Amino acid sequence: MIVHIYENKDQASLAAASLFCACILSKPDAVLGLATGSTPIETYQQLIDMHQSGLLDFSGCTSFNLDEYVGLSADHACSYHRFMKEQLFDHINMKKTHVPSGDAKDLLEEAGRYDKEIEAAGGIDIQFLGLGQNGHIGFNEPDSVFHYGTQIVNLTKSTIEANKRFFKADEKVPTQAISLGAGGIMKARKIVLVALGETKAEAVRAMVTGELDPQVQASILRIHPDTVILLDPQAASLL
Ligand code: GLP
Repeated sequence: MIVHIYENKDQASLAAASLFCACILSKPDAVLGLATGSTPIETYQQLIDMHQSGLLDFSGCTSFNLDEYVGLSADHACSYHRFMKEQLFDHINMKKTHVPSGDAKDLLEEAGRYDKEIEAAGGIDIQFLGLGQNGHIGFNEPDSVFHYGTQIVNLTKSTIEANKRFFKADEKVPTQAISLGAGGIMKARKIVLVALGETKAEAVRAMVTGELDPQVQASILRIHPDTVILLDPQAASLL
């Protein structure tokens, strides 16, 4: 695990975009693992700028997102499908994008199908990760085990609380999600995790210096052979 602490979130985001850029330049048909939340927004903007300035071509690339809320259709304003369309996909020329369906009739079947689709694409070359305040990656919440494949997860109170800000006041925040498992994330050949701000400091400390512990799902990254952690000073304040 390599840890870089930057002067601010703009630099950390540019570093993440640079790692994606380097990957795509050396493998134009790269399979990209993508994330949602506020953390990747600036990295996505950097990638859009690189594309629009002619530096980066996504036309050979395929992407797989980590997760989606259970019960939200792809066109729901708060779905991760919609988020990805607005924050990235509408502005670049990605060959094929995938986000798991949160409103599939049979969610377990959808989970199995998603894993097979990733495998059929050759696996993920580079995976972007944000970090939950409780140390979750994707929607892998604190647990007694690390799950392998894509799974249906019950969200914790703190995650529901943290994600409320994306929903309208009178809207119910979903309580379940479909998420790539920690084991699936570990299969990515390269992982880039970005954590920004003070609210992530404790999770960053536990991930970087704590025990390997499924209560902090991100701690599994300690045994991944090629993980780069990009932090701003606030997220790194407890290291
Ligand atoms: C959600 C997503 C995660 C993300 C986390 C952090 O729970 N499922 O993939 O890393 O939020 O969100 P933010 O980047 O907004 O802090």
